[in-house]
Amino acid sequence: MRIDILQGDITTRSVDAIVNAANSALLGGGGVDGAIHRAAGPDLLEACRELRRTQLPAGLPVGAAVATPGFRLPAQWVIHTVGPNRHAGQTDPALLASCFRESLVVAGGLGARSVAFPAISAGIYGWDARQVAKVAFDAVESFASLPAAGGAAAGALEFVEFVLFSEDTTAVFRSVFGD
Ligand code: APR
Repeated sequence: MRIDILQGDITTRSVDAIVNAANSALLGGGGVDGAIHRAAGPDLLEACRELRRTQLPAGLPVGAAVATPGFRLPAQWVIHTVGPNRHAGQTDPALLASCFRESLVVAGGLGARSVAFPAISAGIYGWDARQVAKVAFDAVESFASLPAAGGAAAGALEFVEFVLFSEDTTAVFRSVFGD
């Protein structure tokens, strides 16, 4: 599996799936969530409402992931995940690792070949970017080395990129990923 670190706006990425750092309500928000909803258009909100009605009446739990189409985005899919919120006392790195792992599992299940991640929980949810990068690195490495990689879990997945908004966060991810 190839891993790339780049600086930019994740909504512009022509990958099969982009990951959204959403909240449990799945009805939009600020940060990357707001940017993805703006770029995808109103059908994305409607698809999220439909998911809430049909599958997730209590919302998407922290650490879980679910997919919708990407609508007006260049990406075919949006994989929504909910990072732990440090301001709400959610400090367990296992919850954050679960976001990366479950998003990769969903991407594999969709048959995606490429997936782009933002720095989940490193904004409004208050996690330190270096800690997010370390958790992301470990999660992708262990996913890629699963016996099922290339089989059921990874599906066709061969390319993972991290798209960071700021120069600082990009530098932190590059140093943690040894790029
Ligand atoms: N492309 C890539 N990264 C972005 C973009 C973008 N267009 N916009 C923001 N970011 C970066 C932020 O700079 C931060 O490093 O994404 C990272 C995650 O920040 P947030 O979007 O604040 O996500 P998070 O910390 O997980 O907080 C989630 O914020 O938007 C709300 O609904 C969301 O309530 C939820 C909470």
